[in-house]
Amino acid sequence: MLSRCGCRLLHVLGLSFPLLTRRPLFLCPHRLMRPKVVFVLGGPGAGKGTQCARIVEKYGYTHLSAGELLRDERKNPDSQYGELIEKYIKDGKIVPVEITISLLRREMDQTMAANAQKNKFLIDGFPRNQDNLQGWNKTMDGKADVSFVLFFDCNNENSNLSSVNKANY
Ligand SMILES: *[C@@H]1O[C@H](CO)[C@@H](O)[C@H](O)[C@H]1NC(C)=O
Ligand SMILES: *[C@@H]1O[C@H](CO)[C@@H](O)[C@H](O)[C@H]1NC(C)=O
Repeated sequence: MLSRCGCRLLHVLGLSFPLLTRRPLFLCPHRLMRPKVVFVLGGPGAGKGTQCARIVEKYGYTHLSAGELLRDERKNPDSQYGELIEKYIKDGKIVPVEITISLLRREMDQTMAANAQKNKFLIDGFPRNQDNLQGWNKTMDGKADVSFVLFFDCNNENSNLSSVNKANY
């Protein structure tokens, strides 16, 4: 926790005082590393979660489900964005892409901080639309390398609709 707080503070300092930028790099070696990202897309119930679990096991990726991160954050009222997410959903609004990206980034940063080798991520269910993609391009430009998109094309007949969650982002 301490290192995370220090990290954030120095990161902010680094922006306003360019001469200090050596320090955050020293304290936060994972900031030097760009995560390698694979976007996983496909219709509801196409098997994204199932296939991600297999890829995690076989290729050592970390699986991040955008929908699940939002649901977990929302469930915890003490979390950074929990209340905000709750409000958007209650008002029938889409959660802004900035929040989704912040959650994804937080998970990637924490994973790489704990183990620098773990820099490969499957981002499942994101980007869902043009707005999501624009948000990612704007925020993550130069901060992550998107390797490719894994797209699961599945007809309605073979989709497993019992595994579908409603998306609000
Ligand atoms: C996002 O960036 C990619 C890669 O640079 C580019 O191909 C794409 O057109 C951009 N999309 C948007 C919506 O900005
Ligand atoms: C469909 O999804 C549910 C919930 O994820 C899972 O328990 C079940 O095994 C799946 N069924 C098939 C046929 O894959």
